[in-house]
Amino acid sequence: MAGPNARLTADLALSRGDRVADLACGTGVYTLEMARLTDPGEVVAVDYSEGMLAAARERLEDEGYPVSLVHARAEDFIAHTPPASFDVVSMRFVLAYIDWREVLPLTGRMLRPGGRVGVLTSMNSSIPQLYALFDHYRNSAEPVWKLYKHCGKNIGETFRFFRRLRETFAQGSFISVPGSAEQVADRLSAGGLVNADVWTETVRLWFESGRAAVDWARGSGYATHPSLDAMSPRDVYFLESMFADGLEGFREAGGIPLDLVVGGVVARKA
Ligand SMILES: C[S@@+](CC[C@H](N)C(=O)[O-])C[C@H]1O[C@@H](n2cnc3c(N)ncnc32)[C@H](O)[C@@H]1O
Repeated sequence: MAGPNARLTADLALSRGDRVADLACGTGVYTLEMARLTDPGEVVAVDYSEGMLAAARERLEDEGYPVSLVHARAEDFIAHTPPASFDVVSMRFVLAYIDWREVLPLTGRMLRPGGRVGVLTSMNSSIPQLYALFDHYRNSAEPVWKLYKHCGKNIGETFRFFRRLRETFAQGSFISVPGSAEQVADRLSAGGLVNADVWTETVRLWFESGRAAVDWARGSGYATHPSLDAMSPRDVYFLESMFADGLEGFREAGGIPLDLVVGGVVARKA
């Protein structure tokens, strides 16, 4: 993901002394880069996961840049930030987790005049390989036999699980990210910002195996579904294994490809 991230960072036109909010900083890879470019300014790095923040702390602590780590939901941080307190707001790959239609217009309030918001996000046309498999499984009898074995060849249990899957996954939509970068730009305009750059690109990621691809899709948050949280680990593992096996059918010389469609938007406050 280095390419799209580098483009967003360049578009943000960071200056020494800038105060930056890095919302959903994750393990701090881009926090560090932004801190380096704005030193002696300040980067306030916010994340909802204590584990991610701990990893970010480890990455940043020996570097000596002025970074403050905040454990909070991005939505709450935005709501409680005084107006005009940042030069830059960076949001990289977090729209899947928040109500982005509501949240994006609120970011403009945080900016000083001339400030910039940068958003990087995957699009809902991403990972077509997983959607193709999803359609295949939904329309074939292949999963039923696997399900029957998973349920200990108990017909009643198989039927209950099957019905639950059909109800839960009736729509092939695993991730509530925008359909286009323009939708992101519209929501930022609604918050009074002027769009400076709006772009889309496809990044092809390669994995050694279907299992590695599925692990990445789940762990990174690019293919999630809230109902998976309510399933037993064994059931989740069963579903993931089905997709991991299916992805092997996409194997090319370089491994298993997953195509991620990435949108970037930078908007300014007048
Ligand atoms: C896909 S990672 C992206 C991390 C980082 N921005 C990057 O691009 O490397 C998503 C991050 O969002 C965080 N997150 C999820 N929901 C959040 C929320 N409501 N508020 C703040 N952080 C959140 C997760 O803990 C995770 O670190």
